Amino acid sequence: MNISKVGVLGAGTMGAGIAQVAAQAGHRVVLVDVNADALDQAEKNFQSIFSRLIEKGKMTKEQMIETSNKISYSSSFDSFSNCGIVIEAIVEKIEIKHAVFSQLEKIVSDDCILASNTSSLSIASIGSVLKHSNRVIGIHFFNPAPLMPLVEIIPAVQTSESTLKYSKALIESWGKVTVLAKDTPGFIVNRVARPFYGEALRIYEEGIADFATIDWAMTAIGGFKMGPFTLMDYIGNDVNYAVTESVFSAFYYDPRFKPSFTQKRHSEAGFYGRKSGRGYYDYAQGVELPKPIEDTELGQQIFDRILVMLINEAFDALFLNVATREDIDLAMTKGVNYPKGLLQWADELGLDNVLSKLEDLFSEYGEDRYRPSPFLKRKVRENHLFNSK
Ligand SMILES: NC(=O)c1ccc[n+]([C@@H]2O[C@H](COP(=O)([O-])OP(=O)(O)OC[C@H]3O[C@@H](n4cnc5c(N)ncnc54)[C@H](O)[C@@H]3O)[C@@H](O)[C@H]2O)c1
Repeated sequence: MNISKVGVLGAGTMGAGIAQVAAQAGHRVVLVDVNADALDQAEKNFQSIFSRLIEKGKMTKEQMIETSNKISYSSSFDSFSNCGIVIEAIVEKIEIKHAVFSQLEKIVSDDCILASNTSSLSIASIGSVLKHSNRVIGIHFFNPAPLMPLVEIIPAVQTSESTLKYSKALIESWGKVTVLAKDTPGFIVNRVARPFYGEALRIYEEGIADFATIDWAMTAIGGFKMGPFTLMDYIGNDVNYAVTESVFSAFYYDPRFKPSFTQKRHSEAGFYGRKSGRGYYDYAQGVELPKPIEDTELGQQIFDRILVMLINEAFDALFLNVATREDIDLAMTKGVNYPKGLLQWADELGLDNVLSKLEDLFSEYGEDRYRPSPFLKRKVRENHLFNSK
């Protein structure tokens, strides 16, 4: 790659993580933020992260000095003037992203790639303010960026082949696994994963089980690393709810993505999760977490219901060419640590079993939320082992 200097805009959770990854891959990095405190905080965090890596034997003192020296800090966009790529990771608001992208273009060279780490906004819209919009691309890291191997690469309709090729090669040279996603709401992971939260919340709302029991079903029976309520408490109910709402409206209010009142109320009450001390669970010192009802039959029903909804979403993403079969499975295992790729899982369960569970739900509730993907129906009808399209 001939990109030597990398610009990162936004020194928050994601921007700092991306800057660290780029510096550790050997690039000079300039981290820019309008807020001087955010820059100070990022610099302090790097020192403690690097010290921990040294303690664990994953970094030498020399490497720490070398990597630290590669990162510079600035509050001025002018510092991006000699960058080969700028990755934006600021607040998730389209008007603000529009303003900074048009400002950026006045400073960077004509061939500088302008990337956004947005989780849910349209890359085409972000690029629409650029004169040379073929340089725009989505490069979506997962939190924490230095640890999560997956990066979704999202070309917009304006993106040139060379922007795509360079971006993909660059991110892979940083040791990341890339998947290619269409510029559609939630890309791969944030679309396909919605039922993990939404169906768990629905099961709770129907009074079928409490938070702890649903979490137990998904971990003990399903093999997921974390149950949905524990995970939402980690992500933050404010953040997770905002993503759900944004995906829902971006899909023209498709009931499959309908947000949940339970999560909305938790978020409104300030029950964000771990960061506020209380979410679905109470994290105050000395408070014991509630115990699940370890009823295997109930647990299996809960797990099956959430899993078939996830599989249905994966099928629909494949049906609408959001990504390839391989990339959809890779995205869920490498981006959110699912124990298996959902399409592989579907094959193992038998597509007719998955379809029949969805049809049962659809007929019981009569809600569009449970409608099986036409692609799943077609595959069952054709009755052959599911292979790539
Ligand atoms: N947090 C996550 O889990 C996650 C995961 C993937 C993608 N994302 C996306 O990454 C982006 C950043 O998210 P985050 O969680 O790191 O946010 P954050 O709030 O931690 O950090 C945002 C930073 O941007 C700075 N900023 C805001 N407006 C600015 C401007 N006009 N110019 C320069 N700096 C500005 C803020 O001072 C802040 O330091 C968002 O688009 C988000 O959707 C977040």
